[in-house]
Amino acid sequence: MSDVVRAPLDQAHRPANDAACVVPGVRKVPRLGFLGLGWIGRARLDALAATGGVEVAALADSNAASLEAAARDYPGAAALDGCERLLECALDAVVIATPSGQHAGQALAALQRGCAVFCQKPLAVTAADAARVVQAAATADRLLGVDYCYREVQGMPVLRRRVLDGELGHIVAVDLVFHNAYAPDQSWCRERRLAGGGCLLDLGVHLVDLALWLQDFPRVELVDATLYRNGAPYRCDDPGTEDFAVAVLRQANGATLRLACSWHAHTGRDALIELVLHGTRGGAAWRNVNGSFYDFEIEICHGTSRELLGAPPDDWSARALTRWAARLAADGRFDPSAWGVVQGTALIEAMYARVGGAEPPS
Ligand SMILES: NC(=O)c1ccc[n+]([C@@H]2O[C@H](COP(=O)([O-])OP(=O)(O)OC[C@H]3O[C@@H](n4cnc5c(N)ncnc54)[C@H](O)[C@@H]3O)[C@@H](O)[C@H]2O)c1
Repeated sequence: MSDVVRAPLDQAHRPANDAACVVPGVRKVPRLGFLGLGWIGRARLDALAATGGVEVAALADSNAASLEAAARDYPGAAALDGCERLLECALDAVVIATPSGQHAGQALAALQRGCAVFCQKPLAVTAADAARVVQAAATADRLLGVDYCYREVQGMPVLRRRVLDGELGHIVAVDLVFHNAYAPDQSWCRERRLAGGGCLLDLGVHLVDLALWLQDFPRVELVDATLYRNGAPYRCDDPGTEDFAVAVLRQANGATLRLACSWHAHTGRDALIELVLHGTRGGAAWRNVNGSFYDFEIEICHGTSRELLGAPPDDWSARALTRWAARLAADGRFDPSAWGVVQGTALIEAMYARVGGAEPPS
């Protein structure tokens, strides 16, 4: 490891966005640090670097092989073994893609150093931690983004606009499904202490976020939740993680949300992904095509007629990150819409609380 770790060029304990560094009228490219260079961290790093809109200033991973591989491809970046050393660099922002249970602490540390943050989902395991992170971003007035990447699938922003304009009428029910024939193969995903949770925190968080975001965060309460592991009821004192989750939630307007998600699912395809809105004047659906993890269709329906809002091909996967980076370059200031993440986190936390056992780790 020691021959891999390159010291950052600037060890100053201040962010590069320090007012003293800014030359009026000169727009500089933000200096970014990337924490966690595993599967998604590396994919997002490469996608963002390819835009040319950011400087890859620092890389950090506790795994020497992952760090070495990234350092080879980004020779100008400082290569470091963890969060603390990364935050010693003069950075404008940090992109976090470490195991889920670490996100809140690392995001908080970065924000407290004055860095903007883009964090993989989930931002936190508990609502209290999520709120602490968002409050830190508000206090530092730094941009906080979370990789709720499906918000950026082609047609999703249009669907949101039309739902909020009332085209579907009164929403009566929302069906949320994400069954994955596989499961993450990283060992940390099967340890509650490290991952914070299983399929619910991996897949269910996306669905809950989408349902809330599409309706501009209505008040929602949990009615019931049941989790399973290997077919047996799961409780939170299990050191492993759940692989099947079902939940029923109720919106303040009376609408019922039904959520189901799982790993190792038997659905005859790689994945079954679906969000269906049932309204009094119309319906809408987001669905994966032919079992794909990447190809989606979005439609708005009135009676038997269907209007397609989005369809493949659509390179959506890094869009949330590239949009965040564009805002970072523009001014990088706190966006209060980040508070919405706390509500989804609270609902997921409530589902774990419902099945009993130990308190969720924070
Ligand atoms: N937005 C999405 O749809 C999406 C998709 C996949 C994964 N994710 C999320 O991304 C995160 C990472 O998932 P992954 O599949 O890339 O996992 P991964 O195991 O492949 O990558 C995690 C990386 O973090 C490194 N790491 C662990 N602890 C560290 C520390 N303290 N400091 C520095 N590096 C550390 C590991 O060595 C590893 O390289 C998870 O939270 C997951 O939920 C989100």
